[in-house]
Amino acid sequence: MTTSAHPLAHFDVQEIRKDFPILNDGTRTRPLSYLDSAATSQKPAVVLNAMHDYYVHANANVHRGVHELGDAATSRFEHARHRVARFLNADPRGLIFVRNTTEALNLVATGIARQGGLMASDRVVLSVLEHHSNIVPWQLERSTHGFAIAAIPLHPDGTLDMDEARKLLAPPTKLLSITYQSNVLGTVTPLKELIAMAHEAGILVAVDGAQRVPHARVDMKDLNCDFFAMSGHKVYGPMGSGILWGKPELLSSMSPFLGGGSMIDTVTFERTTWAELPQKFEAGTPDVAAAVGLAAACDYIDSLTYEAIEAHEKDLMQHLLHMLDSLPYIDVYGPNDRERIVGAVSFNVRGVHAHDVGTICDRHGVAIRVGHHCCQPLMRHLGVPATARASVAAYVTHDDIDSLGEALADVASIFGQVITQHTSPASQMEHRHA
Ligand code: ALA
Repeated sequence: MTTSAHPLAHFDVQEIRKDFPILNDGTRTRPLSYLDSAATSQKPAVVLNAMHDYYVHANANVHRGVHELGDAATSRFEHARHRVARFLNADPRGLIFVRNTTEALNLVATGIARQGGLMASDRVVLSVLEHHSNIVPWQLERSTHGFAIAAIPLHPDGTLDMDEARKLLAPPTKLLSITYQSNVLGTVTPLKELIAMAHEAGILVAVDGAQRVPHARVDMKDLNCDFFAMSGHKVYGPMGSGILWGKPELLSSMSPFLGGGSMIDTVTFERTTWAELPQKFEAGTPDVAAAVGLAAACDYIDSLTYEAIEAHEKDLMQHLLHMLDSLPYIDVYGPNDRERIVGAVSFNVRGVHAHDVGTICDRHGVAIRVGHHCCQPLMRHLGVPATARASVAAYVTHDDIDSLGEALADVASIFGQVITQHTSPASQMEHRHA
C-alpha cells in the first residue's frame, strides 16, 4: 500500500521566493510585502528567461517564413499553444492567444452577436459579481443587436442566488457569461451546476476564469463550458498574454473579432474568406514572446503542483482572515464561512476610505489593491464605494500578512477617532439598517 505525501512536503516558500527576481530586488529601499497578485502576479525567472531566449534565438514573424528563424518562431508559438492547451486539458484547435481576459470576452461577445447569434428577442445572463470586462462587451453588442441583459442577483453575503439563476436560465436566454471566482470576494461560483442548468435549457456558457486559474486546476473537458477566458499575467506569466478557449465547432460558426493579416484564406474586394481555427481569430502579428512566457508559466505551476499551491494558499488565507477577523475595526466582505473565501479578501477599516488604507499600507511596504476593482455593480450591492483587497500567491508568507496587520494597526492609530465614531452602538444600528 502506498501513502501519498503531504502536498506541502516539497514546498518551501523561501526557496520559491528565490525564483522571483522582483522579490529579491536589491535596489528597493524598503521591504516588499506583495499582496496584490489578484491584480497581477509576479514573474519567475524561468518565464523571463523563456521570453529572452525566444528573442535571442528565434525571433521572426510566425506562419509566414520560408526561412529558418520563421520556422523556429512558428514552432515555439505552436508549441506554446499545445502546452497551454494541455495545461487546461483542452482541444488546441480552440485555443486562441489574446492579450488578456478582457480581449477574450470581447471576442466572444462580438463573434456571436455579429454572426446573428444574439438578436433583439434574446437575452444574455451575467451576475452581479462580474468584472466590468464581463459586462461592458455585452452592452456594446446590445447597442447594435438589441438583446436584453439580466444579472443573477446575490444574497447579502455575496453568494449567488441560485433560485434566481434557475429562473433566468430559461427562454429567452441564449447565453450565460459568468465568473468562476470573484476578484473582489474570492468566492468560487457553483459553475458546474450552472453549466448543467444552462445546457439543459440549450444555453451557451462563457466563463471568466481569470481569478480561478491562479489558485486551482481548471479542466475544460471536466468543466464542459463553451468558452473560457483567462489572463496569463495572473498565473506567473507575462503581461499581454492570455487565451480564449472555445469549443471548435462553436468558434467555427462565429464571426472573426479582428480583421487583417493571418486570419484570412482569400481576399478580394468583393469578399473575404477566413482561415481555419485558430488563425481565424488571431489577426496580425501575435505576441509570440508572451505566448512562450505563458507556456513557461504553465511549466512553473506544474513544477510546484496545484496541490501544493492550494494547500499553501489555504494556510495563508486562514492566517489572513484570522488576523482581519480579530481586528474590531475591520469589516470583511463575503460569506461567514471563511473557507469559501479563496485567494483574495476584501475589507474596509470602518469609517476610513480604502484609498487611505492603501496609502498607509504602502508606507509599510505592503502592496494591496483598493478601489471598486472594476466591479461597480458589486460595490453597489455591498453598499460601499470601494474596498481594500489583499490577495495571496505561491510566494506569499505569513510575514507578509503580519506586515499587513501592522500597517492596519497604524491605520487604526491614525484614524482612531473616526473609527470610534463608526463603531459606536448607534452607528452600528445605522449600518445594519442601511
Ligand atoms: N481585474 C484585476 C483585479 O481585480 C485587475 O485586480
